[in-house]
This record gives sequence, structure tokens and C-alpha cells, in this order.
Amino acid sequence: MRPWLYRLISALFALLLLLQGGRALHVNKARTVENSFLPGAVWNDSEGSPIQAHGGQVQRMPIPDGNGGKTEVYVWVGENKTDGHLGNPVAVYTSEDLVHWTCRGDVLRPLDSVEQIDTDPYFQALYGSYGEEEKRNLFDCIGRDKVIERPKMLYNAKNDNYVIWFHSDGPTEKNSYSYDLGMAGLAVSDSPFGPFRFVGRYRLSECPEGQIDCYPSSKGEARDLNLFADEDGTAYIVYTSENNKTIYISRLNEDYTGLSGKEYGVDYLRIFPGAMREAPVLIKAEGRYYLMTSSTTGWGSNQARVWSADSIFGKWHSDGNPCAGKGRGVTFDTQSTTLFQAPNGQWIYGGDRWNGENLADSRYVWLPATFEDGKLSIQWQDEWHWD
Ligand code: GAL
Repeated sequence: MRPWLYRLISALFALLLLLQGGRALHVNKARTVENSFLPGAVWNDSEGSPIQAHGGQVQRMPIPDGNGGKTEVYVWVGENKTDGHLGNPVAVYTSEDLVHWTCRGDVLRPLDSVEQIDTDPYFQALYGSYGEEEKRNLFDCIGRDKVIERPKMLYNAKNDNYVIWFHSDGPTEKNSYSYDLGMAGLAVSDSPFGPFRFVGRYRLSECPEGQIDCYPSSKGEARDLNLFADEDGTAYIVYTSENNKTIYISRLNEDYTGLSGKEYGVDYLRIFPGAMREAPVLIKAEGRYYLMTSSTTGWGSNQARVWSADSIFGKWHSDGNPCAGKGRGVTFDTQSTTLFQAPNGQWIYGGDRWNGENLADSRYVWLPATFEDGKLSIQWQDEWHWD
């Protein structure tokens, strides 16, 4: 994007934010109550460093207990944006109470150079057996100058392993824009704490014959994405496609390492064609499926929108904006990234408050979410706790 256009768009969004009361939302700097959440404040891990897990996902999941078995904790996976925009390592944190988080390190690391595959024991162990072309291809996929965004993780019980899917992007021969490729990257590990081995990056489901493709020149794109595992273990990848115009939900295979098939309505669904939504979050709450999304305004916040359905490949109903009160027009100056339940069943919305000028200082806004009359509702709180 041209710099003057970027500045103009940023200025328009700053104005919108001001009108919607987004920036006016109070940010508490210190807790007044033990174990509370302070939406928008700096959030340090157990070592006192700001948590770096942007565009992430929080879930309760089995992790190795050290004795050959498993135990359950909360796992937060996200982008480590310490070094800025591109080539972000994927970081993992764990917690018992959702307030105190321990950093488990970078579980998927980007490459500084092709040579690093041979000189760094970390990469040697993962990719040392690769031929020259495979090494170059790997660097092309997860090099420091590539997009590694919105990582999401699932535990696969069948294989007792962990998969990460993420938005894998970069320039193409035709265009030097960092987001021209539009693919989904896959990495696999035996442990949620890595090291995750990058497996490949892929285009996903395509608009079927007989439907109007909103971007026919680039089939199967996948950009902002999320994962969801249903109660029966069936997992889905939800992503924005067709140049961010249409959201797709595609069923994953049993290993969670690829798509289950190509049959429309059975293996995937194309929803809201042309609606221009991204940052999707798919959950099941009280027997109903909910899909929360943002509009497509880069690091600038905008209005959230939710759809809900009785079944994943059924009919989706528009439920409108889930946010209520001051800041509702700009999702309280956040972009959706996760929805999960606290130990007492309380649903929590987790959003990114991006700081486009200094991405490492982007903040997290976690707010209570409720389901009233089958509708998701989120309200601002200066300070709150789930118990
Ligand atoms: C947003 C997207 C973010 C990031 C950003 C880059 O639309 O949700 O994950 O890609 O654009 O501008």
C-alpha cells in the first residue's frame, strides 16, 4: 500500500475510533482486586516480561505430565512480535488460573538464513536431512521476512501429537506485497512446547462450480484463520479467503494435517460471500455454533459481527454486533482472536488491541462473554475476574 494511502486510512480509522469511544475506554494500570484482568494494560508473564502471544488462542488442553501421562492446563499460543511485523516466532504460555502465565518459549522458530539449517543445532535436528531445494523452500516459507500470523494449535488424540496451523504469507513473483501468497501453514510436534516442525503451506478449499467466486483469479486462498475441535474430535479450520471477501469453514482430516475432502457442504462451507470479514473465531456454546469475525482494516479496529448456526455445515444466521456499550462500534478497540471458558464455565472473549506503530506493544483485551437468548454478548469492564 502507498504510504500516503496508508496514512489517510489510518487517520480515518483514528477518527472512527474517537467517535466510537474506543480509545476513551479506561485502562487500569494496577489491580485493585487480586487475580483480576486489566483489559488493555501491559500483561507480564511469571518472569516479569510482557506476554508475546498476539493473534493467539487460549484453550484448556492436555500436555505431557512428565511421567508419560497427560495433565490439563490452559495453553496460550500466539505471535511473538518482539521483533516487529514479519517472521514472528510462535510462542506458547501456560496457566492454571488464566491470570498468571508461564512462558514456555518459542515453539516454532523462523529462519534467519538458509545456512542456519546446517549451522544451528535446533534447525539441524528438524530439517538436517533436507536436500538443497527443500532447504531453500523451507527458508522461503518461514524466513524472517515472511508472514507467520495467527497461529492456532490442536491436540490430536489419535496420534497423541500437536498441530499448529497459521497464516503463512509472503510475496509472489507477480507482487512484492508481503500478503500476496495467502496460504495456511502447518507445523507438527509431539509436544505443545515444541519444537514444531514446519510441514508445508497450502491453498485450501475452492469456490465450487455454480457459485459466484468473489476473487476467481486466486483460488483457495487462506489468510486470517482459526481452529475448532468439536466434542467428537472432528476439527475444522476457519479462514478468510477470496481476497478476504468470503469466510470458509473446512473440515480437517483425522490427523488434523489437511482437509477431509473436496465435497461442498460435506467437507467445507463457504459463508457470507462478499461480506469482507476476517479474524474468525469459531466455538460451540450451549449447543450452538458461533462465528465471531472482524472487518478487514489491517491493524485498525472495527465493528465485530457474529453469525450462529445449529450445525457447522447448516444455515448460518446473522446475529449482528455482539458488543454492547461504549466502544461497541470498534469492538472496544480490539480484533477478535479467541473465545474460551474459564474453569467455572465463564466464557471469555480475547481480542488483540494492535499498536500498528509498535506491534510488540500491542495489548490484550479479555472481557466476559455471555450467551443470552442464543446470542453472544460482550461488554467492556475496566477490571474484572472470572471467579
Ligand atoms: C489484519 C489481520 C492481522 C494482520 C494485519 C496486517 O487484517 O487480521 O492478523 O494480518 O491485518 O495488516
